[in-house]
Amino acid sequence: MLIAQISDLHIKPPGRLAYGRVDTATALARTVAALNALRPRPEWVVISGDLTDSGSVAEYTLLKSLLEPLAMPYRLAVGNHDCRDALRAVFPDVQDSGDGDFIQYRETLGALELIVLDSAAPPASGGHLCTARLAWLERALAATAGRPTLIAMHHPPFDTGIAHMDAIGLDPASAAALATLVAAHPNVERLLCGHLHRPIQARFAGTLAQTCPSSAHQVALDLSPDGPSAFVLEPASFLIHNWRPGQGLVSHQVMVDDFAGPYPFFDPSGRLIP
Ligand SMILES: [Fe+2]
Repeated sequence: MLIAQISDLHIKPPGRLAYGRVDTATALARTVAALNALRPRPEWVVISGDLTDSGSVAEYTLLKSLLEPLAMPYRLAVGNHDCRDALRAVFPDVQDSGDGDFIQYRETLGALELIVLDSAAPPASGGHLCTARLAWLERALAATAGRPTLIAMHHPPFDTGIAHMDAIGLDPASAAALATLVAAHPNVERLLCGHLHRPIQARFAGTLAQTCPSSAHQVALDLSPDGPSAFVLEPASFLIHNWRPGQGLVSHQVMVDDFAGPYPFFDPSGRLIP
């Protein structure tokens, strides 16, 4: 069973470029086309936050139209660039925990349980998990006991070494509380995060946490402690998570654009091509 993850779409109002430079709408349209072209196709697409750039109704309206051609159902998480009320206004069917405050929900996706967690803390860029969200997560995890579970959330719960992004990461107290809950539930197969606009993995609380690249612009790789905040237009990509019963979740990074190939390693007789 395949689940795709895309992230950090940063959709602007129609005709506007992100940071005056990035056509995020065209980037998402390309990503949707690439997802639709996959064979076999993923059964679901999880979108791990920063759906829009400034959380306006105009941006969510454009986002909805750009996602319309997607051949498979999608599930939304919020990031620090999102606005819950505007999102709900345009996507009235978005699930939430029922408490009215946060966009977080639990759902069965085939053999897997998906828990979408709301780590946004507007107007801050950093992430936070308050007592209410942690209590909800504890109940959600209790309900998934024994079943392989994915937790999707925008802010990764680990430092990446990209200093300006770590400065707006999940706050340490929230990460510690999350670690306690996750460590008590060994059925948590993976934490699927966004925010970093890069593919990064780290061990976390007995499981693996990873971040998904952006469909548009990527954060510049700079591991110096005083590296400036900057983005690069490296090739856009996304993740395909392949659930393999008996083994677990195996994840691949997939480039959105086409490149030369594929070429055979062997000639028709089976000999290795020198
Ligand atoms: Fe982002």
